[in-house]
Amino acid sequence: MTSKRTEEKGNSFGKGIDIGTAFISCAEQVDDKVMFRNERDAFFEIEYSSFTKNMLNKAGVRYIKKGKKLYVVGDSALEFANLFHKETRRPLSRGIINPGEKESLPMIEILLSGIVGEPRASGEVAYYSMPGEPTDADFSTIYHEKVLQNFLTKLGYTAHPINEGQAVVLSELHEEGFSGLGISFGGGMVNACLSYMSVPTFSFSVTKAGDWIDQQVAMATNETTSQICAVKEKSLDLSVDTAKSGIEDALSIYYNYLIEYVLENIKEAFESAPDRPNINNPIPIILAGGTAKPRGFETRFTRLMNEIKLPFAVSSVRLAKEPLQAVAKGALVAARAHEED
Ligand SMILES: Nc1ncnc2c1ncn2[C@@H]1O[C@H](COP(=O)(O)OP(=O)(O)O)[C@@H](O)[C@H]1O
Ligand SMILES: [Mg+2]
Repeated sequence: MTSKRTEEKGNSFGKGIDIGTAFISCAEQVDDKVMFRNERDAFFEIEYSSFTKNMLNKAGVRYIKKGKKLYVVGDSALEFANLFHKETRRPLSRGIINPGEKESLPMIEILLSGIVGEPRASGEVAYYSMPGEPTDADFSTIYHEKVLQNFLTKLGYTAHPINEGQAVVLSELHEEGFSGLGISFGGGMVNACLSYMSVPTFSFSVTKAGDWIDQQVAMATNETTSQICAVKEKSLDLSVDTAKSGIEDALSIYYNYLIEYVLENIKEAFESAPDRPNINNPIPIILAGGTAKPRGFETRFTRLMNEIKLPFAVSSVRLAKEPLQAVAKGALVAARAHEED
C-alpha cells in the first residue's frame, strides 16, 4: 500500500462500489477512463480434497477453505453450480446481508476484497451503495451498512455509504445539476431516490424486483427460476404486446405489476415525505439496474406512469447509458468529489 498520495497523470483516487444482491461492481478512474470490475454475488460449496484445491489454484479460481469445505466465489460459483445442476448460494438476499445464510459474512468479505482490491493510497475514499429503508419489509439496513463499512475499513479505505438511487442520479444527471429521480431496478430490490442538486429529498426501497419476477413466473408456468431467468435475460421484449411464448407472456404481466407497484410507492413516498419537496420544474427520471434492461422497458414504464399520474411533473424518462454500471459509476462520482475536497 502506498502512503504517499501521488496522483499519476489522468488517474484520480476514489472508488465507487455497488454491492447488489446479484452483482458486486467496482468503478475507478484509470487513464482518463472509468474502469469497471463486476462479479456475481454468489458462492458454491464443494468438498475439500488437496487435489481439488490444487486444481482450483491452477485454474486461478477464487475460493476459501473452511473445515472440510471449499467455497468457490463469484462468476466461477455459477459455472460450478451449472455443472452440478444446482443453484448457487447468495450472501445477499433482498438487498441486504442474507440472514438465512450462515456463511454470508466471509463470502462477502472475500468477494469485496477481490473486486475492490487494495487502496491505491492510504485511506483512499470509497463510496458503497446502500439500499433505502424498505417500505414493504420489516427489516432495517443498519447492520448491513455497518458490516460493509467495517470490511472496507479493514481493507484500508475511508468508506462512506451512498443511497443506491442517489448514485443513479449522480451517474446520469450531471447536466441537470444532479436533480431528478433515480430508480435502480435490481435483482433483490428496487431503489428510488429523488435528489435536488445532489441532495436526497426522499428515498425508499421495495423488496420485489428481478428475483421476485423469476419466482412468480416460475410458479405460474411450472418451470425453474433459472430457466425463467435465462428467457428473461436473453429474449424478453417488452415493446411488443403479443408475447412469443407463455413464459414471455407471464414475464410481461409481472413486469407490469412490478412497475405499477414501484410507481405507487413513489407516489406515496412523495406524498408522505416529512418535508414534502416543493418541486417547481418538471423532473427527469433515470431508470437503471439489470431489470430495466429488456427492450421496451423504458416505453412500458412511461406508459404506466402516464396512467397512474405522479404528483409531480416529469420532463423525461431515460434509461441509464449502462444500466448495470450506473450505481458503481455514481458512487465513484461521490468518491471523487470527496477526494477533491
Ligand atoms: N438483459 C436483461 N434482461 C432482464 N433482466 C436482466 C438482464 N440482465 C440482468 N437482468 C436481471 O437484473 C437483475 C440484476 O440486476 P442488478 O442491477 O445487478 O441487481 P442487484 O443490484 O440486485 O445486484 C437480476 O434479476 C437479473 O436477472
Ligand atoms: Mg443494484
